[in-house]
Amino acid sequence: MSETPTSGATAAFAPLIFGVLQFQVYTTAVRLGVPDAVAGTPRSAAELAADLEADEANLHRLLRALVALGVLRYADEGRRFALTEAGRDLCEDAANGSRDLVAFFGEPLMWNTFGGLERSVRDGGPAFTGVTGEAFFDYFASDPGFARSYHHGMRWGTAMMAPLLGAAYDWSGLARIIDVGGGDGGVLTSLLAAHPQAHGVVYDSAEAVRGVAEHARQAGIADRCTAEAGDFMAKVPAGGDGYLLKNVLHEWDDAACVRLLRNCREAMADGGRVLIVATLLPEPGAAGDPSAFTYAALSDIQLMLASNGERTLAEYTRLCAEAGMRITGVSKIPYLPNDNVIEATAA
Ligand SMILES: C[S@@+](CC[C@H](N)C(=O)[O-])C[C@H]1O[C@@H](n2cnc3c(N)ncnc32)[C@H](O)[C@@H]1O
Repeated sequence: MSETPTSGATAAFAPLIFGVLQFQVYTTAVRLGVPDAVAGTPRSAAELAADLEADEANLHRLLRALVALGVLRYADEGRRFALTEAGRDLCEDAANGSRDLVAFFGEPLMWNTFGGLERSVRDGGPAFTGVTGEAFFDYFASDPGFARSYHHGMRWGTAMMAPLLGAAYDWSGLARIIDVGGGDGGVLTSLLAAHPQAHGVVYDSAEAVRGVAEHARQAGIADRCTAEAGDFMAKVPAGGDGYLLKNVLHEWDDAACVRLLRNCREAMADGGRVLIVATLLPEPGAAGDPSAFTYAALSDIQLMLASNGERTLAEYTRLCAEAGMRITGVSKIPYLPNDNVIEATAA
């Protein structure tokens, strides 16, 4: 039998190459508002083009691709488009939906940043800084829309992880938790709701903490949760017995991490602890789940382009030691094979 003209390798790599376009189709649909526009009733391309202020012919082609990808389905013998069950995840009101994260990664600036991988690998440093001339978080002040999109995008992972943190670590011994770089308070409010003995402070930029009061009110813990705006590289609120650093250190280089860990150590009450929630890269050659490894390695690439990167446990151990701390425990977060709560106390 003759060889097929398509080699196995080509067949394997085709989905990968088109994956880049697949994501653009998803994010463009979200950014235009397609899933929400068809959530109630099936709509035609002409109706959607008028509502979403889009070019009808090209929107029609996008809608067809969304059918191919299982976000939409044909209705009314192909004259209209309806949302599939899977597509509901991309709607604004989907519980724990990924819409905001898909929208953030589709920001033209993020897309330019991803396109800078070759430059990052050749020249070092984050591509984001090559594109904007500024470090990732410094840039936020000049582009509030981008900053908002980032903070909204971060909510997805946070909402998913917040309830799992309770199972990963025993928070019952903590009376005052400072969530350093705590965003809009999604994590801390969830922890405080489950631990009535504890009070807490969400510490982040003024823009980020704007949503804390509403989160606290919704969680019924407004009397136990406050927000404070500030620069964690300068100082963190004093007197806590637990300093949570969830998905924060991976945004910073080693020197900045040591400064931040030191700020926490100096601010903490006697016997206090720092709780680092982080994705851990496996040590080279360690056995493990290949898909978890892929996730951690790609998360690292994304961070490398924007700001810094993921680390191994050995690297976190060294950073803690440089900040005058030692790691006293590592607990895996259930269902998330790479994610851990790393406990550190003053050495
Ligand atoms: C990756 S997000 C993590 C947010 C939150 N901990 C979570 O896991 O959802 C990093 C956070 O650090 C905050 N941040 C960055 N630089 C900061 C600084 N110098 N001072 C205070 N917060 C800062 C950002 O605003 C952002 O909310």
